[in-house]
Amino acid sequence: MPRQSGTVIAVMVGLAGVLALASTTVAADGAALWEKNCASCHGADGKGDTKAGKLTKVKDFTTADVSSTLNRDHVRQTIEQGVVDKDTGKSRMKGFKDKFSAEEIDALATHVLSLVGAK
Ligand code: HEC
Repeated sequence: MPRQSGTVIAVMVGLAGVLALASTTVAADGAALWEKNCASCHGADGKGDTKAGKLTKVKDFTTADVSSTLNRDHVRQTIEQGVVDKDTGKSRMKGFKDKFSAEEIDALATHVLSLVGAK
């Protein structure tokens, strides 16, 4: 085999790697993850105006007193660990640590912060 074809193959393998990386980034789509896993309780808009949202008594993320308490660390931590009722010890929102990768959790946090207009 001539030398050049080795180079061509190496370039192609490199390109495939770049494409694979690009598609992982696209996969961590915060808005889509939110729709699928969170909107049933929190609502598409984060207001929690859904049947499950009312049952679980979620807060309206978009009100100033809630949005002002939401920062990236807190949101990520909540997504990872969920929410446990302090009085009853019952889970109000399950944690998603085992379900999502760090990138997905970050993408979700970005989406939550964009919904509430927090930084
Ligand atoms: C079974 C319903 C349910 C689902 C599904 C759910 N949550 Fe929650 N979530 C709650 C409840 C209940 C609370 C606690 C009350 C509150 O803060 O609104 C909460 C709290 C939060 C908080 C913290 C708010 C604060 O002020 O501390 C964040 C952030 C959050 N959820 C994000 C998410 C994300 C992101 C998803 C999807 C990956 C999700 N939730 C899925 C019910 C749910």
